[in-house]
Amino acid sequence: MSFYHDHILPHVINLACGSGQMKKIRSQIVPAAKGKVLEIGFGSGHNLPFLDAGKIEHYWALEPDPHVRKLAQKRLQHVPLKPEFLDLEAEAIPLEDDSVDTVLITFTMCTIPLVQQALEQMRRVLRPGGRMLFAEHGAAPDEAVARWQQRIEPIWKPLAGGCHLTRKPLELVEQGGFALEQAQSLYMPKAPRFAGFVSFGSARPQ
Ligand SMILES: C[S@@+](CC[C@H](N)C(=O)[O-])C[C@H]1O[C@@H](n2cnc3c(N)ncnc32)[C@H](O)[C@@H]1O
Repeated sequence: MSFYHDHILPHVINLACGSGQMKKIRSQIVPAAKGKVLEIGFGSGHNLPFLDAGKIEHYWALEPDPHVRKLAQKRLQHVPLKPEFLDLEAEAIPLEDDSVDTVLITFTMCTIPLVQQALEQMRRVLRPGGRMLFAEHGAAPDEAVARWQQRIEPIWKPLAGGCHLTRKPLELVEQGGFALEQAQSLYMPKAPRFAGFVSFGSARPQ
């Protein structure tokens, strides 16, 4: 990969994903993770401080990018959880069917190239009655913002590690075979509107 991708982008993503507004959203979904937990797109570990270690039996952290994973080292020193890393893509999760209680995915559906395939994998590994916890940015409901998202996306995507601005996370979750249990959508205050419309909540495999 390029110098930008390996040495600059991981720091940019780490900074961008650490905003106070994102922390507020993380705090509303991540503590519900329990049992055998699989995090998809672990990144630099921004969800670690919000996980309740007492409720977690096993924690797999799936993250294909070694440069991003490296940035999690400091955060890992301050939490009791010791993740088992899966250095692979979410399109081919190397776990058994029905083996996970909670799938956690935050700000990652925008980036996974074959997102529908990845969601099918998440549903496959999630046991019946298990739960997906998600927080994702995506297409804005306002036409003017949505038009800007479509214009900007071709420039934004290569700069932001493959991140799409126009995906619709709630539709993706439902198309992936999940039933929404709780969902809220809002513009994050202080974030640029083209990247700040976020949907978060939980869903059950159907
Ligand atoms: C914007 S970052 C979000 C990181 C983290 N989930 C968070 O909330 O801070 C998107 C992450 O998705 C990861 N990613 C990219 N392609 C992926 C794939 N095919 N499967 C799983 N993760 C992927 C990237 O390496 C990156 O760490």
